[in-house]
Amino acid sequence: MKILHAATELFPYVKVGGLGDVLAALPGAQRTLGADARILLPGYGALLARIRDLEPAGGFPDLLGQGEARLLRGATADGVPVYLLDHPGLYDRAGGPYAEYGDSHLRFAAFAWAASQLGRNGDWAGWRPDVLQVHDWQAALAPAYYAQDPGRVPLTVTTIHNLSYQGIYPAPLLPELWLGPSIFHTEGAEFYGKINFLKAGLAFADRITTVSPTYAKEIQQPEAGSGLDGLLTHRRRDLAGILNGVDNAIWNPATSPHLEHHFDARHLSGKKLDKNLLQREMGLDESPGDPVFGVVSRLAEQKGLDLVLENVAYLLQLNAQLVILGTGDPVLEEGFAAAAKAHPGRVACALAYDEGLAHRILAGSDVMLVPSRQEPCGLTQLYALRYGTLPLVRRAGGLADTVVDTDAQSLVDSTATGFVFKEASSWILGETIGRACRLYREDPRTWTRIQRHAMAQNFSWKASAKEYLELYEGMMRKAKGE
Ligand code: ADP
Ligand code: GLC
Repeated sequence: MKILHAATELFPYVKVGGLGDVLAALPGAQRTLGADARILLPGYGALLARIRDLEPAGGFPDLLGQGEARLLRGATADGVPVYLLDHPGLYDRAGGPYAEYGDSHLRFAAFAWAASQLGRNGDWAGWRPDVLQVHDWQAALAPAYYAQDPGRVPLTVTTIHNLSYQGIYPAPLLPELWLGPSIFHTEGAEFYGKINFLKAGLAFADRITTVSPTYAKEIQQPEAGSGLDGLLTHRRRDLAGILNGVDNAIWNPATSPHLEHHFDARHLSGKKLDKNLLQREMGLDESPGDPVFGVVSRLAEQKGLDLVLENVAYLLQLNAQLVILGTGDPVLEEGFAAAAKAHPGRVACALAYDEGLAHRILAGSDVMLVPSRQEPCGLTQLYALRYGTLPLVRRAGGLADTVVDTDAQSLVDSTATGFVFKEASSWILGETIGRACRLYREDPRTWTRIQRHAMAQNFSWKASAKEYLELYEGMMRKAKGE
């Protein structure tokens, strides 16, 4: 089975959020199971400089009207083959992968078009995928190119990592993107008179996946459907929710090079030392008995962090500490910075992207806050479980699928792994924070028991990779008419 993943992030080279982690792990896990999975990415500078053994593997005399582009092939440090679409004018620019230069529609349509071509014609060595899996809106036009020009094409899967970002552009751009009226209709790429890249991917792919079973259900409802719930309901038989996993080689408190003290479920003393170091690093009072609440997140509306900001006073009242690492929404950035300034020793914040600090917060905190309004899967709560840091999450998307609330029943069953609340209100979040604080202070033995159970959870990429392979096999059987 040959699979080509088309995506715009790949940890550790280019990462904005969880998408980068997924591409760093899923294709490798599929290869371990015997599939030939490869990745296509835009030729960002960070990739051109760091992907090893790059050599020419194909080319396009005219990439969507933008002139010549090369296809280079190399491999990640783990040996996963990577194709880079080398067009410096489009992709080798300053800023992150989504920095807006006013031509994102062109950059990502060209990327999706190249993915469709590689899928159709293969590379110079004759490698051609059986399945083309496109991730998020930036790659989602590929199935639309097949729809308007069928023929010998691979089976297609569109994977939704986040339905809130769709790539919506004015209709007059269609010809510039080499798209025609045959795909521009209500059952296709048209969305309220505009072109919707993600909708095109959802309408024309053979299958649709998203990154948790609960999110797969939620997006069929208006509240989380971002205007596409009708289409997703219509296609529900082709829609599957497959949970992401954790890369245990990277997110491992017993080995992480970012941690001064290592620990595991049986030996938790290192975690206490990491907490002390975190408090010192972030300028928090070095009080071992006060619970530290951590946040590592994009500061986006989706993440519900305004509810955390509204709970700063309550956290102080509880003698808890709060540490935040994140960037994004300026209002939230200013809010957290002001809280840290007003309450030195109790609230600390780093408005930065910092992989090492992310590990140290995950290890040194007692509770990770993930109060997302929407969360397709969420990876930080999974990392928190691994690090014995109890996740406090809203019951949404993948958070609902991965964290078990601590209550009378789950304590008896020994299934509790964290704290879960339903209603997205600062009052209910506060109540749940209060519940966590009480348990932390009043019943340390139970706390440790829950920590050990949390650390024993196994969200493995192997299981996800297997599910994807089964999905592809089902598609192939169907295509053969079996
Ligand atoms: P999303 O993809 O919506 O941002 P996820 O929970 O799936 O949410 O993934 C977030 C990933 O990004 C995690 O690996 C997390 O550690 C990382 N991350 C988010 N913000 C930062 C930051 N400021 N510094 C370092 N890592 C971050
Ligand atoms: C998205 C989602 C997040 C998910 C990640 C990887 O960015 O917001 O919930 O974990 O993609 O699939």
